[in-house]
Amino acid sequence: MSKLFRIKPMSMLNHEAAEEGEHTLKRSLGALNLITLGIGAVIGAGIFVLTGQAAALHAGPAVALSFVLAGFTCAFAGLCYAEFASIIPIAGSAYTYGYATLGELVAWIIGWDLCLEYAFGAATVASGWAGYFNSLLQQLHIYIPPQLTATTGTQLVFYQQQWLPVMSLPPGISDAGLPHATGFFNLIAVCIVLVITTILVIGIKESANFNSAIVIVKLGIVGVFLVVGGLFLMQHPHVAATNWHPFIPPADGHGNFGWGGIPTAAASIFFAYIGFDAVSTAAQEAKNPQRDMPIGILGSLVVCTVLYILVSLVLTGLVSYKTLNVAAPVALAIDATGVSWGSLLVKIGAVFGLATVMLVMLLGQSRVFYSMSKDGLLWKWASDIHPKFRTPWITTIVFGTFAAIMPAFLPIDNLSQLVNIGTLLAFTIVSAGVWVLRVRHPDMQRPFKTPLVPLVPILGIASAVYLMTRLARITWIVMIVWLLIGLVIYFTYSVKHSKVQAMAQANEAD
Ligand code: ALA
Repeated sequence: MSKLFRIKPMSMLNHEAAEEGEHTLKRSLGALNLITLGIGAVIGAGIFVLTGQAAALHAGPAVALSFVLAGFTCAFAGLCYAEFASIIPIAGSAYTYGYATLGELVAWIIGWDLCLEYAFGAATVASGWAGYFNSLLQQLHIYIPPQLTATTGTQLVFYQQQWLPVMSLPPGISDAGLPHATGFFNLIAVCIVLVITTILVIGIKESANFNSAIVIVKLGIVGVFLVVGGLFLMQHPHVAATNWHPFIPPADGHGNFGWGGIPTAAASIFFAYIGFDAVSTAAQEAKNPQRDMPIGILGSLVVCTVLYILVSLVLTGLVSYKTLNVAAPVALAIDATGVSWGSLLVKIGAVFGLATVMLVMLLGQSRVFYSMSKDGLLWKWASDIHPKFRTPWITTIVFGTFAAIMPAFLPIDNLSQLVNIGTLLAFTIVSAGVWVLRVRHPDMQRPFKTPLVPLVPILGIASAVYLMTRLARITWIVMIVWLLIGLVIYFTYSVKHSKVQAMAQANEAD
């Protein structure tokens, strides 16, 4: 039994971190690359889509407070990730941290769980990307056959020169009499994931440069929204006063609105923050991980938190929160300022924004599987490095294909909840791990130290578990089934091939 909780020795981790050569990942990322990697992963579907829904259905203008609440949960976890990433600059992120502190079985569970965050996250965002991209094309009068723009079985209607899901028709508009089509295969989602997979295979530096360029565009567009919307609100203060009043709408008796609606909305917009932790999966590709990892993780988190609070305030100031339950709430709000090019610009921002989210999510997924495979817990092909590109190419292609196929056929609208629970579980284990490592190795050199241990890890665990309890029961069930599948693989393959186990047995035999 104790074998299952064997920890990976720090000496082994340090040795791996120091490895060099053509079969290792390439150290080429600086602090700025890491911050942009974080922002690339974070700003996406959450802010462009979910904020509107959370305001309309759960919190009203107080969704800004939900962003503060979710931001604190991420800050506690972010501080813990930063300490680990500075001590253990290895690609596996939470998986590796779990292995070094809580043992192999916990590490396996967290590594497998990270698929929920990264692979399923990329697939979810691919679906959202396809919707935005198609809407943008249609706005430019470019039409792809509707059957190739939606997942199998999605009912589409042609309304105001656009094919859109029946569910997205404005309230009060009937689909009777409108042209209909049924989705067969989401070709757009497949194409974008395959393009991103190709970039990831070609190289980490190329991927980071592509990401940085797009992050600048996406930040620019969020900035334009804030400036245009903010100036409008300053010139028309009565609009903001009307829309922000009451700031916390009265509770509806079903857990929505009132003070109770704020954490409910926080659990759903938590998705908007996911991704800053993915920076830690690139630790083995950072030039100076001890110094730059904490900067990358915490820097991207701070930038995104500030932007999110401002965007949610401007959004709910420009239009009534009751109108925001639409696919493109930010575009709707900028339209209210009377700027004619606003909605087109926001759609372009969303298309760019979501592309980098997929990029960093798939990057994270391949690096976690790379680390698990290096440890012998997964098949060897998962850590095969391309001799020319120096990337884990096979695992990148396998997960790219997986993430491309899922949104092509499966209706995955609710997958964002699954991504949330998977990430929150990872946050819980990382927070616990920092505390355990402080107790076990108090004297270890820590280039970055989480402040106020054990208070910050305890708050990290408590807030993540609290948000998990606000998620639907079906989300819990799917997560548990996913973890059980993982345990079958662990007990049939990983225990027999674990390098840490083999080393420990060899030491015992000596
Ligand atoms: N934070 C990422 C997004 O909002 C996952 O799309």
